[in-house]
Amino acid sequence: MKRLQLLLPGPVSLHPEVELSQSLPMINHRGPEFRELMKEVASKLQKVFGTENVALLTASGTGAVEAMVANFVKPKEKMLIIQTGVFSDRMAKIARILGADVELVEPPEGEGISPEELDSRLKESKATAVGIVANETSTGVVHRNLLELAKVTHENDAIILVDAVSYLGGHELDMEVMDLDAVASATQKALMAPPGLSFVAFRERAEEKMKEVPKRSLYWDLELYKKFYEEKYETPATPAVSLVYALNKALGIILDYGLNNWIRRHEVFSKVMNELVEKAGGAVYPKEGWRSNTIVVPILPEGVTPAEAKRIARERWGLDIGGGGWKIKEKSVRIGTMGWYDVDVVHRALRFLADLYGAGNDLVDETFRKYLDNI
Ligand SMILES: Cc1ncc(COP(=O)(O)O)c(C=O)c1O
Repeated sequence: MKRLQLLLPGPVSLHPEVELSQSLPMINHRGPEFRELMKEVASKLQKVFGTENVALLTASGTGAVEAMVANFVKPKEKMLIIQTGVFSDRMAKIARILGADVELVEPPEGEGISPEELDSRLKESKATAVGIVANETSTGVVHRNLLELAKVTHENDAIILVDAVSYLGGHELDMEVMDLDAVASATQKALMAPPGLSFVAFRERAEEKMKEVPKRSLYWDLELYKKFYEEKYETPATPAVSLVYALNKALGIILDYGLNNWIRRHEVFSKVMNELVEKAGGAVYPKEGWRSNTIVVPILPEGVTPAEAKRIARERWGLDIGGGGWKIKEKSVRIGTMGWYDVDVVHRALRFLADLYGAGNDLVDETFRKYLDNI
């Protein structure tokens, strides 16, 4: 099998040690070895989330978002969801299935929501829960204003639930500092682990709220996860042990590298790709100020389809990139900056973009030098 470099919106290429860690011997998930592993993983996750209470779920990101909504939003409760793409639509679908009274708030094209707009929509709707996708993987819209959004949410007596599936590890997050109530995320994006595990981290307001929410699921009962962890460093049901090994290894690599340096890797890579496209006369989505560190969304030149761009990336440059998403599905591709890659991958990604937009080697050299100077 040819090994392609994944520059997808997830999953991502793994560090070789993360790959290998999945084949460690199986252990008893009710034994001392697992408890040690779990303690280690939990302490690393606490650093990444900036809070103490992190439930480790055997599910992909969708499961974590569902668990978050099931535990912190009551049936019939009014919930505002900021509509920025496919994953906010999915959160809305989940919340509706769970009986919430969902109202979608669509920010201006190519933007996220401002605290002023959220404030006015909260006052109008009297919603008591806000759902937001911090980094909308389908469109590359990122909210760098989570702290301000949390502030207005709380001023309006609501709680804020954040989908950080493609945000965590690629952007700054500190739940205590930002005063976020609950955050869902998953392993297979900027945390550089295989798919299959996810998390819900939650703080005091959410925990208080959980007491008022009727139980609608056993598997997603976060109170149970907390109890099992606190009492015995275990999970309520059998966890995906091999994935926990891999997650532990990946988090170790990231924390040794330095979480801020890790975030910066994504930021610099995305910036140089956006810059190259714009300097070559192309366009990127979304608007400046709302662009993600982890997902770059070039609008394709006339006549180039996403399938064709993906084929060129794969066959000419050995890069596996994603197709477009949501309303810009037919005219864009998505290039992830997450996971394990060597510096030559950055060069190949820049050459691929130059190829696509008809730019010369001078521009590739200039932007690649900028990458090297800033990383
Ligand atoms: C922002 C966001 N939320 C939720 C999900 C769903 O995660 P999963 O595919 O792991 O279930 C994704 C997946 O790409 C995502 O990017």
